[in-house]
Amino acid sequence: MQKHGNFRGRIEEELIKLQLNDYPPELYEPIRYFLGIGGKRIRPVFTLTACEMFGTDPWLAMNPALGLEIFHNFTLLHDDIMDNASLRRSSQTVHLKWNRDIAILSGDAMFVKAFQLISSVDPGHMKPIIDLFTKTAIEVCEGQQLDMNFEHCNHISTDQYIDMISKKTSVLIGCCLETGAIIANASVSDREHIYRFGLNLGIAFQLRDDYLDAYGIPEKFGKKTGGDILSDKKTFLWLKAYEQASASDRKNLDRLAGNVSEEQEQSKKISDTLDIFNRLKIPDQLKEAEHQYFSLAMQHLDIIDQPETKKTVIRKLADSLFTREA
Ligand code: IPE
Ligand code: IPE
Ligand code: MG
Ligand code: MG
Ligand code: MG
Repeated sequence: MQKHGNFRGRIEEELIKLQLNDYPPELYEPIRYFLGIGGKRIRPVFTLTACEMFGTDPWLAMNPALGLEIFHNFTLLHDDIMDNASLRRSSQTVHLKWNRDIAILSGDAMFVKAFQLISSVDPGHMKPIIDLFTKTAIEVCEGQQLDMNFEHCNHISTDQYIDMISKKTSVLIGCCLETGAIIANASVSDREHIYRFGLNLGIAFQLRDDYLDAYGIPEKFGKKTGGDILSDKKTFLWLKAYEQASASDRKNLDRLAGNVSEEQEQSKKISDTLDIFNRLKIPDQLKEAEHQYFSLAMQHLDIIDQPETKKTVIRKLADSLFTREA
């Protein structure tokens, strides 16, 4: 069996080898392009790592792991249309490099390819894996719709925000981990705890994504910073600022929300909003919340009935997410 350090490399190799037709090229080229521009591959790495942690050959989980990564990539193609994003993984987004229709349809084909791979497991594990995946995929759609709805509403509570990010981001991370556990025949209780570990880690992960969208180093982050502010996303930063703002800052936030077209106006919208976040020390509050969800995740990992030595890899992976810049 190869060692865990190789998981990411093996996933890259398998993604390149993926069986895809060539015709029509307008459908398949964007898929090859998108799968070829990198990404952290954290979701399939989690699937393989969980499978190994529970004592089973991780390569038995490779097909669903790849399927889950391709599902994630499909959501990004559509998300970049919805969010008007021009840059992803430091490369041009598909809807701009080709066009919107192509990004929709290539994304759809990726979803189907993902399902094919996820369902390519031994028959004994197929039903629980498909049940978990389909439940998760529906929740991701719900989360994405809430994310879009919130663009037009300034009165969003922290609970509503956590519910939205749990659905759009965390459930998939939980699903990736639990899929590995299912293949390894983990107990019902261990499955539940690895899922909860993923759910809480996923919330911390999205909090950090919100932070990086406003404060990240663009060359490292690979996405255009300030995009969330321009789209009026109700991120943790924005809603905490709105909650704590003085009457005049609240008025400013209300005024800043809404479409601006000129580039000059866009950078002013970003800098004025960041000024308010900074004045209220919102980034510190975000880091505090991130830490809390990270700790909750660790509590679930602690309960899992495996020797500590088996949990080391997954702990290191989680730590690397906590300090990430991309
Ligand atoms: C981006 O996910 C979408 C979010 C849920 C924040 P990642 O940050 O895992 O993106 P890649 O796959 O590494 O590019
Ligand atoms: C993405 O949330 C969640 C999904 C794609 C389902 P974001 O819109 O914050 O992700 P990025 O920042 O574009 O990667
Ligand atoms: Mg989005
Ligand atoms: Mg986005
Ligand atoms: Mg984001």
